[in-house]
Amino acid sequence: DLLHLAHEWDVDLEAIIQSGACEASCACSTCHVILEPEVFDQLEEPSDDENDMLDLAFGLTDTSRLGCQVH
Ligand code: FES
Repeated sequence: DLLHLAHEWDVDLEAIIQSGACEASCACSTCHVILEPEVFDQLEEPSDDENDMLDLAFGLTDTSRLGCQVH
């Protein structure tokens, strides 16, 4: 999952994910994370719901995901 990947890539995402305001129900964008391209490419495509929320995320990038939706 993402935490495992983050550990491999030496990124501390746990605090970010736990700060998610909607408790991982894909209804906010506070868990927005920007991934390394190598990590992004290993993940499944985001759902339509996730893409809708990502559009609202601050500082959206080509490798943005919602941390709570990545498994
Ligand atoms: Fe709200 Fe991830 S915690 S979308």
